[in-house]
Amino acid sequence: QGKSIIALDINEPKDKIDSVHYIKDSIINCELINSIFNDNYVKEIYHFAALLSQTASKNPKLALEINEDASKYLINNAYLHGINNKHIVKFFFPSSIAVYGPRKLKNASEQDIIKPTTIYGSNKLAIEQFGSKVHEKSKSKNYGLDFRSIRFPGVISYDTLPSGGTTDYAPQMINSAKNNLEFECKLSSDTVLPFIGINKAILSMIDLMKLEKINSKLRVFNVEEVSFSVKDLANFLEKQFPNFKLSYKISKDFQSVADTWPSSLNCEKANKFWNFSTEKNFEVFLEKIINK
Ligand code: SER
Repeated sequence: QGKSIIALDINEPKDKIDSVHYIKDSIINCELINSIFNDNYVKEIYHFAALLSQTASKNPKLALEINEDASKYLINNAYLHGINNKHIVKFFFPSSIAVYGPRKLKNASEQDIIKPTTIYGSNKLAIEQFGSKVHEKSKSKNYGLDFRSIRFPGVISYDTLPSGGTTDYAPQMINSAKNNLEFECKLSSDTVLPFIGINKAILSMIDLMKLEKINSKLRVFNVEEVSFSVKDLANFLEKQFPNFKLSYKISKDFQSVADTWPSSLNCEKANKFWNFSTEKNFEVFLEKIINK
């Protein structure tokens, strides 16, 4: 779209796009963050850096530093950048179904009572609330920050194998089945969780960020394409890949987290604001991923 992009990550990118300026560094480097704001006129921020749920539980201090402190620093700087330049900085924050709990909800809505049970979930909720507060402050000044967030379910990518998350079992199981590898599942067969494909996840962010204004005090949106149990996925894969070998070794760390996350999400709000819709067909959804 002719915009110039600065991309910051601790790893080198797999593929480089000519027009993107890449910086290999960390989100906790405050000096770097300051210099990016000082040297550029920033209009939009997409802040993805985080430790996922299982990694965060194992490294609570680092999770606080990366998931909360670095996010707050970035939000505060974006806000000041907007105030100083007399404009609004649009800020995207990927939140998670981890903010729900402690009871497993079906068709969870954004305003449903929330008490996350994991460190990761409380990090995400803290930033949702912090960003929303800065958003309110900006509204009264007409400059500052426009905070927008999506509560993602498990995201399934075609080519990137995730690790460190609780929902990762699904992309990992798909990958194993496709590559003729055995898979040991850490979740019980009746565990139901919501999911979205990477394409729809990206489109949702684009659609949300394209909106001129969002008239809602609650700055978060649920999105989901399908919701399925471990057994549903296993049955599907066993049909597609008859040699696929699956075993179960339930991990308390994984199961206790999955049991507090919703089995499905209510996406009416996303539908109302940007026409979010899906075919909701489990088989079609998986066939597309497998045949990529
Ligand atoms: N997919 C993430 C995880 O499992 C949740 O946002 O940790």
